[in-house]
Amino acid sequence: MIAALSRYQELIAEHISAHRLPEGPENLYDPIRYFLTLGGKRMRPVLALMGAELFGGELENAVQAGLAVELFHNFTLIHDDIMDEAPLRRGKETVHKKWNDNIGILSGDALLIEAYKCLANNEPQTLAKLLPLFNQTATEVCEGQQMDMDFETRSVVATEDYIQMIAYKTAVLLGCSLKMGAITAKAQDEDADDLYQFGLNLGIAFQIQDDILDVYADQNKFGKQVGGDIIANKKTFLLLQALKDANSDQQKRFDDLLSTTDVALKVKGVMELYDELDIYQKATSKKNYYHDMAMENLKHIRVDATKKAPLEGLAHFLLEREH
Ligand code: IPE
Ligand code: IPE
Ligand code: MG
Ligand code: MG
Ligand code: MG
Repeated sequence: MIAALSRYQELIAEHISAHRLPEGPENLYDPIRYFLTLGGKRMRPVLALMGAELFGGELENAVQAGLAVELFHNFTLIHDDIMDEAPLRRGKETVHKKWNDNIGILSGDALLIEAYKCLANNEPQTLAKLLPLFNQTATEVCEGQQMDMDFETRSVVATEDYIQMIAYKTAVLLGCSLKMGAITAKAQDEDADDLYQFGLNLGIAFQIQDDILDVYADQNKFGKQVGGDIIANKKTFLLLQALKDANSDQQKRFDDLLSTTDVALKVKGVMELYDELDIYQKATSKKNYYHDMAMENLKHIRVDATKKAPLEGLAHFLLEREH
């Protein structure tokens, strides 16, 4: 993580390690403790803190909102790894692999409740604004996740439907994190909404980068299984663009590869087609398009341009990240 971000990350790390859970049942709480100590980039609480600071708020006042989004995010990852049958997360075994699916389900549920406890620590007037935003976002994340699962078995998915799916499963939570920070700083509604839009476009670009990394990351740096999306027939931007651009010979090769059970052959074959079709470049330019839109949204916010620099830096870091 870049140096400018460590101040925010340290504050969050302190609060996460101070967050006490009961000793037992061990099979409920140990997986949560395990997962929270694996780290991760902690970018959603960083966004909450930056959202507060942008409007002159105290960092301390945004911490509970930041913790709530981070714990919520970690809950979604534990369940996502069950749904995606993922073996690795943050460089270590996923919860359902280390324990089992039932333990992943229930420890995820318990973590979601911990998120709400943090949210409830806000003073009543602030909470009254945070809660509907958080609830709306959480509902959309579930909707996006279901769309993602439904798309696995569909052969055709329109790009607009893909964008809607990633907006919901990923981007709304980035927008929510920033706006919650803004709310704790008592920002004007109009500015808080512009900040949300910035987060939404940033989040779409962030998920496109996640799709890119799933194919092109260095396995030693990535922390997740490279090729997982190809194996699961995920309708990523890369696959949809490739299916659109393929000629009839390439279309035929895709059809064969998407139905093969030979995982190594599938990943290798799809990657060859991606290279032939220049998919890395096409996905990167789509990512940059949403990055540019996010920067436009940031310009609209009525605060001094110098105050926006940390958010510009974070956006750059997130969209060029290697894990
Ligand atoms: C992973 O999120 C899930 C997506 C929405 C792409 P992050 O890339 O923020 O994961 P961690 O928290 O840093 O591990
Ligand atoms: C995850 O999307 C979105 C949520 C967890 C809500 P992915 O399935 O692409 O995330 P990773 O790649 O497993 O982190
Ligand atoms: Mg996943
Ligand atoms: Mg998933
Ligand atoms: Mg992914």
